[in-house]
Amino acid sequence: MCRKKQPAVLLLLLLVIAFANVTAQQKSIAQKVDSVLKLMTLEEKIGQMNQYNDDHTATGPVTLDNKKQEQIKNGQVGSLLNTVGTERTRSWQQIAMQSRLKIPLLFGQDVIHGYKTTFPIPLAEACSWDLNAIQLTARVAATEASASGIHWTFAPMVDIARDPRWGRVMEGAGEDTYLGSKIAYARVKGFQGNKLGDINAVMACVKHFAAYGAAIGGRDYNSVDMSDRMLWETYLPPFKAALDAGAATFMNSFNDLNGVPATGNKYLQRDILKDKWNFKGFVVSDWGSIGEMINHGNAKNEYEAALSAVTAGSDMDMESRCYKNSLAQLVKDKKIPVALIDDAVKRILQKKFELGLFNDPYKFCNTAREQVALNNPEHVKVAREAATKSIVLLKNQNNLLPLSKNTKTIAFIGPLVKAVKQNKGFWDVEVPGVDSNFIVSQWEGLQNKVGTSTTLLYAKGCDIEGNNKDDFAEAVEVAKQADVVILSIGERRDMSGEAKSRSNINIPGVQEDLLKELLATGKPVVVLINAGRPLVFNYTADNAPAILYTWWLGSEAGNAIADVLFGDYNPSAKLAITFPRSVGQIPIYYSHFNTGRPATNDENRNYNSSYNDESIFPKYEFGYGVSYTSFQYSNLQMSKKKLKANEQIEVAVTITNTGKYDGEEIVQLYLRDKVGSIVRPMKELKDFQKINLKAGESRTIKFIINKEKLSFFNQQLQWVAEPGDFELMIGASSKDIRLKDFFELIN
Ligand code: BGC
Repeated sequence: MCRKKQPAVLLLLLLVIAFANVTAQQKSIAQKVDSVLKLMTLEEKIGQMNQYNDDHTATGPVTLDNKKQEQIKNGQVGSLLNTVGTERTRSWQQIAMQSRLKIPLLFGQDVIHGYKTTFPIPLAEACSWDLNAIQLTARVAATEASASGIHWTFAPMVDIARDPRWGRVMEGAGEDTYLGSKIAYARVKGFQGNKLGDINAVMACVKHFAAYGAAIGGRDYNSVDMSDRMLWETYLPPFKAALDAGAATFMNSFNDLNGVPATGNKYLQRDILKDKWNFKGFVVSDWGSIGEMINHGNAKNEYEAALSAVTAGSDMDMESRCYKNSLAQLVKDKKIPVALIDDAVKRILQKKFELGLFNDPYKFCNTAREQVALNNPEHVKVAREAATKSIVLLKNQNNLLPLSKNTKTIAFIGPLVKAVKQNKGFWDVEVPGVDSNFIVSQWEGLQNKVGTSTTLLYAKGCDIEGNNKDDFAEAVEVAKQADVVILSIGERRDMSGEAKSRSNINIPGVQEDLLKELLATGKPVVVLINAGRPLVFNYTADNAPAILYTWWLGSEAGNAIADVLFGDYNPSAKLAITFPRSVGQIPIYYSHFNTGRPATNDENRNYNSSYNDESIFPKYEFGYGVSYTSFQYSNLQMSKKKLKANEQIEVAVTITNTGKYDGEEIVQLYLRDKVGSIVRPMKELKDFQKINLKAGESRTIKFIINKEKLSFFNQQLQWVAEPGDFELMIGASSKDIRLKDFFELIN
């Protein structure tokens, strides 16, 4: 018996030693930070809290500043953003090394969905529900970015987003708190790798703290007015999950939250993040957001804005220059204690030490390593796999897809067929010396796939926008010659993204008219919809026999689309965000409350909670997506029907692949708390599993229900599980519930 225990004891001992090592290391870093801090003048301290944009690219309104070099030499700058490449980062770092204390610069960059190798936009990737794949793309992005001089990515964006008018829905994980939290965790782990200081790890920056995704009317940067309960229950958990994953930094946000700009919001940054959650990293402002508090009407001038932001807990000023211009005066005027500045500077220096920059400021500036990392064929494979997993099959009438590889003639039509850079979507990085050649267009992808016996025909058909139908006739002629037509339509890549809100989210221009004409030829038409948000496309949805929502898939877009079209990959993705039928339904999301007068169908509109002129149902619901095969759900079993707070229920369900193709299914578990002291949502995702089943194969999978899954924030904002009845729903989407049961939480 003693023997058996030995390995366990040994393991424990090793863990204790490892923990002691980490703590000792932290301690020694803290000591080093203190010793640097002691040497610093107030101006140098404030310098660490100041971040500038490089001159090359800008991701916000530019402030021209031709004295950057001089300021860096004077120790007045702690970080630069939008500086990429080993050569450029090295040359700036050399300037920093001429400063009195030689404190290295931090280089931050929006590495949102890949660096050189571009992965699907985050919203697309979220539709894979594949946490390993998501972590892996972040890992690869970090490997490339760190090899190219970057220390810090401004990602992941973990804002819950329920309004597709908001252009930045593309950048997050969609509408759901549970899925969003899992993805936030995976992305941070991916970016930061095993630990900061490793040569291929970059710091994550969780953004935008907080509630940025709930901008009124879906208009970017707009106000957010939200109950505390909604904030805690729906919007904050992904941030907490990212923190639990070890996120090094946070970014605050442009919006005001209930009248207080997030940047100057003490409740968010100090009370919640730094005190309650014990966050030890640092908070960077969003671009210029400290100065923008003047526009908000919450600060009279830069001096007041700096006072408000620094007091609230913003440690670094991105681009507004308010800290640089006002912090010293604020200290002199005794408006803030130096201790406040010291706290911010310590947090920043701590990360510079953890990254190993004090040992070697050029650690990430190895050009030979950069070349290898940016040309790694393994990364291309990861991109192709992630892209195939992100494509959502919305419709496949009469099993039109997958297409046969022996199809004689295929007409590939549409304004996006031959587009190259469009496939990257918004938020790509211009890597020095790299042009767009490596991005696989949809045309190229199809060419790579089909053999010599297939003829590929092309017509553009129309532009993305505008009313010009001159090229319709040619497209129709081309379609007539083909056995099958593939039509690639959608948005332009820069129609979604930051500052890309839209009040009309229909498929732009005459693209759906083109579809109408192509359908009139009687040829089978497969539609690919490229977009950074859920679009409204009722005509296409109701009339096209097959639809793949391809979002923006990144550098392997063409190959991935071809893989799915021809069945080399059986689509498995499910929507991470609800697709409305019309803009009038927005915001629309599955986990809504019931009303006192619920409407349950579109026929009865008699004094109930419905629209008089529109359905109450979305076009495609959260969690929806079909496959080339079919899955049957059976044999729901629960280990018990009553549980106490300290107990759990084991739920088992059998999934069978009843179709002809091997495939993956995302099995979703939803719960509904039937009666609560606060109204509870109609259903809430509480778990899921993505499983791979061969044709004909069956597997029983298990879920655990425990108190945590039954808890919510009550009126006093306590996290509680209230005794009572719960409904358990297992399904293939939030609507397509296949199996149900009930259980009770007892005292
Ligand atoms: C965006 C941030 C981004 C920053 C730097 C801002 O406009 O809101 O998400 O990280 O610019 O590019």
